[in-house]
Amino acid sequence: MNRTYIKDLKNNVGKTVSISAWVDVRRDHGKLIFIDLRDMSGRVQTVALPSNKEAHEIASKVRSEWVVRAEGIVNKRPEKMISKNKETGEIEENGDIELELKKLEVLNEAQTPPIDVRSDGTEIGEEARLKHRYLDLRRPRVQKNIRTRHKIIKYVRDFLDNEGFTEIETPILTKSTPEGARDYVVPSRLENGRFYALPQSPQQYKQLLMVAGFEKYFQIARCFRDEDTRSDRQPEFTQMDLEMSFVEREEVMALNEKLLVEIVTKLYPNKKIQTVPFPRISYKEAMEKYKSDRPDIRTDKNDPNLLAFCWVIDFPFFEKTDEDPLTGRSGWTFTHNPFSAPKPEHMPMLMNKEKIGDILTTQYDVVLNGFEIGGGSIRNHAPEALKKVFEIMGYPDEQIESNFGHMLRALASGAPPHGGIAWGLDRFVTLLQNESSIREVIAFAKTGEGKDLMMEAPSEISEKQMRELGIELRKKKK
Ligand code: AMO
Repeated sequence: MNRTYIKDLKNNVGKTVSISAWVDVRRDHGKLIFIDLRDMSGRVQTVALPSNKEAHEIASKVRSEWVVRAEGIVNKRPEKMISKNKETGEIEENGDIELELKKLEVLNEAQTPPIDVRSDGTEIGEEARLKHRYLDLRRPRVQKNIRTRHKIIKYVRDFLDNEGFTEIETPILTKSTPEGARDYVVPSRLENGRFYALPQSPQQYKQLLMVAGFEKYFQIARCFRDEDTRSDRQPEFTQMDLEMSFVEREEVMALNEKLLVEIVTKLYPNKKIQTVPFPRISYKEAMEKYKSDRPDIRTDKNDPNLLAFCWVIDFPFFEKTDEDPLTGRSGWTFTHNPFSAPKPEHMPMLMNKEKIGDILTTQYDVVLNGFEIGGGSIRNHAPEALKKVFEIMGYPDEQIESNFGHMLRALASGAPPHGGIAWGLDRFVTLLQNESSIREVIAFAKTGEGKDLMMEAPSEISEKQMRELGIELRKKKK
């Protein structure tokens, strides 16, 4: 018999069906045994009657999380047995039907789960949840987060496809991009002593795709940054990354705003966006008024369905670095992205390397309820202007050539004006799902110490692997 999904049982009242599912919970009343079964589409109560000896005997043996195939008749429950939500009085999912078991087959047994997978999980320590993540992911709340995340990504893909964007994958084994964080590095076997870096973002590649004439690129892109994790940070995370040619700041912002608004209105009809168009706040105003460059401008912070987006603009391009302890001098570094263009009226200051602290960048950050969920800019498409940025940061010519020679040459090969943005997708989903940690919306998240407790990564590698890579460990300091 073909499998029926649990969500479709209500359309099969009076019919005999077969379902494949996990045992959610079993209640043995001696004569009657109730088993709640769960598949990817929902949950339903089944009942084994003593009159059906074989099914009843198997039903008495199954335990939570066993995998079964069940055949039975879908019955309407009598009015007084219909299960309703205690608070709202609404009929619960499949609360008015029941599957009367005719046949029960055990497909696989399960050890007693080390963590409860039916609760919302907040009472369980995070270490235990991450260690047994394949069980933890069975939890309805986390399942919903991961499935909704997919819906959001699909919405983004369809929207951007419709706008003429092409999704293009860029390398994971690459050379480091200066994004302000530490790189994860991968040793080369074929060239001992050389290393790839995992991308902190596809920044350079997406700009090179603009030089290559794709004009509208996007990618649901994995990024890697070796930094301390927090509730809104993971060492590997996902960006919704895009770049466009022949655009001004306004066009990139408008497109992103439209997409953000559509995602909320189509996928979260219960949520309210505080202000559309999103307010624009200059960095200066944000710091003065909110003491933060990612202001939480919600008018009601107790409302879980209120989304207050805003754009923060007009950031300084450069900031002073810490003083060198030897020389007592300090230099300049970029605040956001070295590849950004200054505001057009500040280009002469960049070219003349004058009033460096006053140069403002075209950077725009999108902030939601006090979290930075994205950032981007119009880029410096003239190679001589990009070179000035590196000079201001004190890079000698040889270093500029060795680190960024490819970018300067590409920009000198007919690069169109271009700009883009990247959203922190995990962060955005966390906020939409009213979760408190980014780890609730990532299938296999890492701990605060950057560990994958389930796989036990990072781990040691064999002596042979080390030899092939030409690597010898320094003795650990005692
Ligand atoms: P940026 O470094 O601002 O910009 O990153 C874009 C967005 O990514 C999110 N984010 C993170 N999310 C989770 N864990 C992390 N460790 C983490 N780091 C950043 C944030 C952030 O706003 N290449 C540029 C984008 C561009 O200019 O187009 C970039 O990566 O939500």
